[in-house]
Amino acid sequence: MDSNVRPATMARINNKELAEAFIAEQVKLLREQIGDKKVLLALSGGVDSSVVAALLIKAIGKQLTCVHVNHGLLRKGEPEQVIKVFRDELGANLVYVDATDRFLDQLAGVSEPESKRKIIGKVFIDVFAEEAKKLDGIEFLAQGTIYPDILESKGVKAHHNVGGLPEDLKFDLVEPVKLLYKDEVRMVGKTLGLPDSMVYRQPFPGPGLGVRCIGAITRDRLNALREADAIVREEIGKLPVTPWQYFCAIPDLQSTGIKYDENGKGERYMGWACIIRAINTVDAVKATVPEIPFDVLCKMRDEIVKIPGINRVLWDISEKPVATIEWE
Ligand code: XMP
Repeated sequence: MDSNVRPATMARINNKELAEAFIAEQVKLLREQIGDKKVLLALSGGVDSSVVAALLIKAIGKQLTCVHVNHGLLRKGEPEQVIKVFRDELGANLVYVDATDRFLDQLAGVSEPESKRKIIGKVFIDVFAEEAKKLDGIEFLAQGTIYPDILESKGVKAHHNVGGLPEDLKFDLVEPVKLLYKDEVRMVGKTLGLPDSMVYRQPFPGPGLGVRCIGAITRDRLNALREADAIVREEIGKLPVTPWQYFCAIPDLQSTGIKYDENGKGERYMGWACIIRAINTVDAVKATVPEIPFDVLCKMRDEIVKIPGINRVLWDISEKPVATIEWE
């Protein structure tokens, strides 16, 4: 039987009891597969890799090493949350690599979206491979492959946009959630005790804020974007029904603003426009735009224009098609 095909008899894991049974079975299978060997995992902090990490910590504890690469394009508070949950609370072996400068130096001046993605993917592989080479005796590589990855992209995680690990770093794969759908992965994560903010977090592209800092990335605009994104997540996150995905983007474009000094004298200056985007979708193929109450939009505007460099806030009401969800 092809191990990449979900058996027709496999029940949908939609409650705690089924999730507990899945966890118990996987812990047993993982221990059988891995024995006393060591496993490496690239832990992004996304749902899939986090659930795989938590499962492996339960099964093999310190035989797992997680590597969290901060590419500088993560959202506000994300690396801190990964360290808190996995190192401090779950006691994982966690290698944290702040490679921000390396990514941003390579991205400087690059404005073409696919080139940006390729650079982010390549530098990620380079940094991860370097860390892997520093570790002794690793025999397995764990991956957060889930069933839609197998169905849609031949098992390649969407965020691994280029290549793979170098030839001298070929490991056997450990993919404990590869037959699960996203809702099942979340149920398993919740049952394993991961925080809701991790288990139910909205989809976030592998290249992160890199595809939302539109055009050539600069540190000042990226930092402004990270602050604006935190405001949008906070305010839209308070709605009774949250959209499927909500974020903002800042294009490499400036428009005229005006500031008044204490004497009431106005001075014109150039600033960025921050675009708020919130969409609903089932499968990310088509997307609609939910209504956001005007007072919520105004509250976000008032907070966002306090961020240095931003002087304008726009709301993107484009549907997919004709627009894509991300701006680039
Ligand atoms: P688009 O913009 O194509 O986005 O309508 C559809 C969904 O895919 C996400 N997305 C990405 N995810 N790497 C990823 O891992 C990427 O390069 C990428 N580009 C878009 C997007 O956030 C949306 O959920």
